[in-house]
Amino acid sequence: MPESIMEKSEIKEFYKDTKIFITGATGFVGKTLIEKLLRTTEPHTIYILMREKKGKTINERLKKIFENPVFDILKTINPDFSLKIKTINGECGAQGLGISDKDKSELINNVNIIFHAAASVNFDENLKSAFDINFDGIRSVINIAKETKHLKSLLFVSTAYSNCIEDSVIQEKVYEYPYDDVIKELEMLSKEKAELVRDKIIGNWPNTYTYTKALAEILAKREKANMPIGIFRPSIITSTYREPKPGWIDNIYAVNGVALGLMTGFLRVMRGDPNLIADIVPVDMCIAAMISSAKEIAGTKYDKEITVYNYVSRNENPITFDLFKYLNCTFGVPSNKALWYPRFIYASNDFTCNILSFILHIVPAILMDTLALLTGNKPVLVSLYRKFFKFSSKVTFFGTKEFQFDNNNVQTMWKKLNKTDRELFPFSMSSMSWLLFCKNYSLGFRRYILKEDDSMLAQAFTKLYRFQIAHYMMKASIVFGICVFIYLQLSKLWNIFVN
Ligand SMILES: NC(=O)c1ccc[n+]([C@@H]2O[C@H](COP(=O)([O-])OP(=O)(O)OC[C@H]3O[C@@H](n4cnc5c(N)ncnc54)[C@H](OP(=O)(O)O)[C@@H]3O)[C@@H](O)[C@H]2O)c1
Repeated sequence: MPESIMEKSEIKEFYKDTKIFITGATGFVGKTLIEKLLRTTEPHTIYILMREKKGKTINERLKKIFENPVFDILKTINPDFSLKIKTINGECGAQGLGISDKDKSELINNVNIIFHAAASVNFDENLKSAFDINFDGIRSVINIAKETKHLKSLLFVSTAYSNCIEDSVIQEKVYEYPYDDVIKELEMLSKEKAELVRDKIIGNWPNTYTYTKALAEILAKREKANMPIGIFRPSIITSTYREPKPGWIDNIYAVNGVALGLMTGFLRVMRGDPNLIADIVPVDMCIAAMISSAKEIAGTKYDKEITVYNYVSRNENPITFDLFKYLNCTFGVPSNKALWYPRFIYASNDFTCNILSFILHIVPAILMDTLALLTGNKPVLVSLYRKFFKFSSKVTFFGTKEFQFDNNNVQTMWKKLNKTDRELFPFSMSSMSWLLFCKNYSLGFRRYILKEDDSMLAQAFTKLYRFQIAHYMMKASIVFGICVFIYLQLSKLWNIFVN
């Protein structure tokens, strides 16, 4: 039905002619947010906080970002979309975001909506650096928000795992942990000293990322007063489900790295519990929920409590790690760069994981690298596995612990949307098909991470079938060998017995 004869979109109405400030705009979530806002709503201006990086100026970075395929459709709809973007030179770790007085004045005089998504998402980040970016970042954003004259909403993007030390259901509320003394201590510490006291300070948290996000949430709650501030907590964000292109992805963090390893046959075993729920959410649905949440927050200005949204999939559309693996292995589109038939085992303890990893990863890697050396090629597998082992130790906590989340605020927000908004901002996880998601996910890895052309798909399937035959032949040979061995041992015993 054309939009003109449908109910009016309240969300579009909310964003019409607004001036939006986004931090973290250059990242995975940020790019998808800008794209969706400009494709579906009609903001006046989007200010984005950016820093120079790796010798590239802000303008060079911006040009590169807009070359990303996530913007392809937007470019066809509105070739001049970039005219709506204004960059603000800044850095989250610096005081007041390190922005100039002129930029600050532009922000406080104009901005209506703020999305604070910038963060160091590195699990291994030095405690002091993580604190400076993740805690001081939101502190500076709130200080700017306090002076902003026409602020309607400030949405702070945290993580569903900010309270990952809790064993009971994680509610949509801010949890209080020891705060004042620890903040004072962290403010005084140097990076070097912070590293020495890291474990003592973060206690049961598995990493500095989730710990500093927990502190940042407490700060947001304390500073809320009469400001329209809310917290959005997504679980594990993966590729797009449908928009703007199915399967679009630009990173191989966490579950995405595991799924890519699984799909290419690189990864055969990992520590994890197959029966746990994999709390995966596609980035386009997550962005739709963020856009809707920022609108909702506008109505919470005078609320005493800060509104929190746990954006997770487990309550409405749960999928276990085992089923996720099965769908990816069985229905995922193969890669031309595959190393083996995609088959994967979740090991329930470190001992089994290490033994299986030695047999299924290390031995083949040494053989393949030796072959590469002998044929004049570069050996890469052993070093890739070394990197993977380091990565896997960081994510084991999340693959072995059962979490539970309340997401009542998200569900209520969905129920309140009118039909048009539900079509334009489809964030209810209940409407998603995991089978379709997994097909698109693997296609996305092929297209956007491995840069494989769709015209090579037939060859990838041929390669997959060959690997499948080799895989089952190898399995059959191993079973046959074991049977022969047992038979020979039993024959020996029998001979001893009858003689
Ligand atoms: N991805 C997930 O699975 C997931 C799950 C839950 C929550 N989240 C949250 O979603 C938000 C976005 O994450 P993401 O996945 O998009 O991560 P990402 O791709 O790594 O993007 C991080 C963004 O933060 C910016 N940033 C980092 N440090 C900064 C600093 N010191 N000053 C200014 N900007 C800085 C980065 O800018 P540069 O490009 O300049 O580095 C980038 O734009 C984060 O708050 C994260 O905690 C993500």
